[in-house]
Amino acid sequence: MKKRIIILPGDGIGKEVTTEGKKVLDKIAETFGHQFEYDYASIGHEAIEATGNPLPDETLEKLKKCDAILFGAVGHPTYDNDPTLKVRPEQGLLKMRKELGLYANLRPIKLFDELLGASSIKPEILKGSDILFFRELTGDVYFGEKGRKDDRNTAYDLMIYQRFEVERIAHKAFQAAQTRKKKVTSVDKANVLESSRLWREVVQEIGKQYPDVTLEHQFVDAAAMKLIQTPRSFDVVLTGNLFGDILTDEASQIAGSMGMLASASVGDKVGLYEPIHGSAHDITGKGIANPLASILSAALLLDISFGMKEESETVIAAVESVLKQGFRTGDIADTSTDKTKILNTHVMGSEVAKNIKKIKSFAQA
Ligand code: IPM
Ligand code: MN
Repeated sequence: MKKRIIILPGDGIGKEVTTEGKKVLDKIAETFGHQFEYDYASIGHEAIEATGNPLPDETLEKLKKCDAILFGAVGHPTYDNDPTLKVRPEQGLLKMRKELGLYANLRPIKLFDELLGASSIKPEILKGSDILFFRELTGDVYFGEKGRKDDRNTAYDLMIYQRFEVERIAHKAFQAAQTRKKKVTSVDKANVLESSRLWREVVQEIGKQYPDVTLEHQFVDAAAMKLIQTPRSFDVVLTGNLFGDILTDEASQIAGSMGMLASASVGDKVGLYEPIHGSAHDITGKGIANPLASILSAALLLDISFGMKEESETVIAAVESVLKQGFRTGDIADTSTDKTKILNTHVMGSEVAKNIKKIKSFAQA
C-alpha cells in the first residue's frame, strides 16, 4: 500500500520521539512491502518562532491532504509561567483538533506485564488492567466562550456540550465496547453541572441502541479514586474533554509511565496519532525520553488509519519483546533488579525496529 504521512515533531522531546516512531514505520514498510511517503510541517512554539502562528496555514493545508499524522508534542516553559501571553503553542494543537474534526481521542491504558514493577501502584491491583478511554476532544470548557470582565478581575470559561457532540462520541465508545468486555463507564459531574446532565441523558439514550453493552455512570471524583483502587473494574471509559484530560494522566500510572501511553484522535477524516506525554522540556535534548509512546502511536496509526492489523500487532509485539529482553528507558526502569538494561531514546527505537523483522519472519515460519 502507498500512503502519505505528515510528521509534526513540534516542541521539546517531540522531535526525539517522532524520529523513533518514523523509524518503526519505515521498518514496517520495508518488512511488509508498503510505501510510506513522509513530509514534515511545523506547529507549536517552533512555528510561533518561525511565523508568529502556532498553526501556520501551510501546515493545515498539508494536514488536510494526507492519509495520517504522526504528532510529537507542543509547549514551552516560557508560556507556562506567563499567563498574559496571547499567542501560545497549545493554541496550535487545539485549532488543529477543531479544524480536522478530531472529536474522539482514544487513549488505551494497557499494562505490559513486564512493567508491573514500574508503577507506584501495587502489582496485585494492577495486573490485567486494560482500559480504553474515549475522551471527547473538540468541545467542553476547552472550546466554550472564555474571557475577562470587571476590569479583568473576573475570568470565565464556558463548559458547553451540544447533543450531537455527545451522540457521536458515545456511538464510538459503545461500538468499541462491543469488541471488548462490553462495558462502558460514562464519567461526568451530573450532580452539579447542567452540561453533565445533558451528557448523561444522551449517553443513556444512545446506550439503549447497544443492549449487549452494560452502561454505568460515575461522577468524576469517584472515578478518579476507583481508577487506582480497582483499575480492572473498567473496560471502556467515556468522558468529556476536561475530565478526560485529567483522568488519562492519572491512568497513565496504571501503564507504568506516561512515556508508554499512545493516543489516536479521530473523527471526520484524517487521524492524528500522538503520545499523551507533553513536550517535557526538562529532559529535552538529553536523549533519554521514552520513545515507546510514539512507537505505540504509530501502531495505532497503522491499525486505525490504514487498516493494517497485522502490521500494528507486529509493532506491539516488538515492543513487548524488547521489554521482555530487559531493555528500558529511565522512566520505566526497575531498579530492584540488575537485569534491567537502560537504553537511550535512539537505541530503544532501533531495538524495536530490529525486533519487527524477527517477529515477522517468526510468524511466517
Ligand atoms: C493533552 C494535552 C493538551 C490538552 C494540552 C497540551 C493542550 O495535555 O493532549 O492531553 O490539554 O488536551
Ligand atoms: Mn493532557
